[in-house]
Amino acid sequence: MKVTKTSISKLNTTDFSNLPFGTVFSDHMLICNYKQGKWEEPEISPYGPIPIHPGSQVLHYGQSVFEGMKVFKNDSNELLLFRKDENLKRLNQSANRLSIPVIEESIFMNGLDNLLKIDSEWCKAEQGYSLYIRPFIFASSECVKASASEEYTFVIITSPSINYYAGEINVVIEEHYTRASQGGVGYAKAAGNYAASFYPTKQANAKGFQQLIWTDAKEHKYIEESGTMNIWFRIGDILVTPALSDSILGGITRDSIVTLAKDNGIKVEERRILITEVIEAFNNGMLKEVFGTGTAVTVNPINSITFRENRMIIKAQNDSFALKLKKQLQGIQKGSIVDIYDWTSKVTD
Ligand code: COI
Repeated sequence: MKVTKTSISKLNTTDFSNLPFGTVFSDHMLICNYKQGKWEEPEISPYGPIPIHPGSQVLHYGQSVFEGMKVFKNDSNELLLFRKDENLKRLNQSANRLSIPVIEESIFMNGLDNLLKIDSEWCKAEQGYSLYIRPFIFASSECVKASASEEYTFVIITSPSINYYAGEINVVIEEHYTRASQGGVGYAKAAGNYAASFYPTKQANAKGFQQLIWTDAKEHKYIEESGTMNIWFRIGDILVTPALSDSILGGITRDSIVTLAKDNGIKVEERRILITEVIEAFNNGMLKEVFGTGTAVTVNPINSITFRENRMIIKAQNDSFALKLKKQLQGIQKGSIVDIYDWTSKVTD
């Protein structure tokens, strides 16, 4: 793999105490082009603008998919990647749905390893830090015909991160706009899914909510996701989360929490959840916790849910399942808790 290192690193001029999520990027990136039916040799180069034709299909039709993953530094200064196989699997599922050629395992895995070794200083070992990794593929043919592109570009960039959200998360249940529908692309990490969510989210922001709870496209009766997170309810001592479907993103954090919860003896139900069930549980005092999960946020408590004009405030629990599971997950990710699941892998030479 061709590697060109930067001559001017930004490491010493970056303020690691102030890292608004996704705004600071490390020194290098990986690029690999797909032309004439095959992925070419990947290349690592200094992070910077990439040339793109105004006629590139991604700019017109949004044919693009991405991933979010994280690498952590353990106390021995080793880099630990979390569930990288799952990210590759999901990237390729998304690619399939968007008619994008799948990425070969060797390009993805070797590319990640090489890039992370070069920029390992961007991943801090202090508690709370990680390096967020953003692999993405976009349609790069210069052609405005509405059809799948012939050429693609695969890129990996990385961004040092601390928190995604700062402060409380108050959400409102959305009954008009929809994130995803049956038969659509909701289960894929398609760029357009996020683009379509910005307008309704901005409207909710203007009313003082940080995020929405998405409901099903057909009846707006069932809970789907919250913002960019999978959503969880603790009803009594059972954790309930919407079952995966083609309108729900199969979160890798969601899957990890299902496993950890069950291994902690917590009953987990993956099923459809009616809005009315959540309201009833709240009114009966059975709705003990609500939280979101995702790579960027890990596990994030939700402080209140508003449905129409009614606000349900979720009080903090002394025996919070969310915090307990978050601690375990973060411990595994950072190598301070033994990883019996084989979820972490060292970035090796
Ligand atoms: C992630 O958690 O990685 C996500 O995909 C959320 C992202 C859109 C910031």
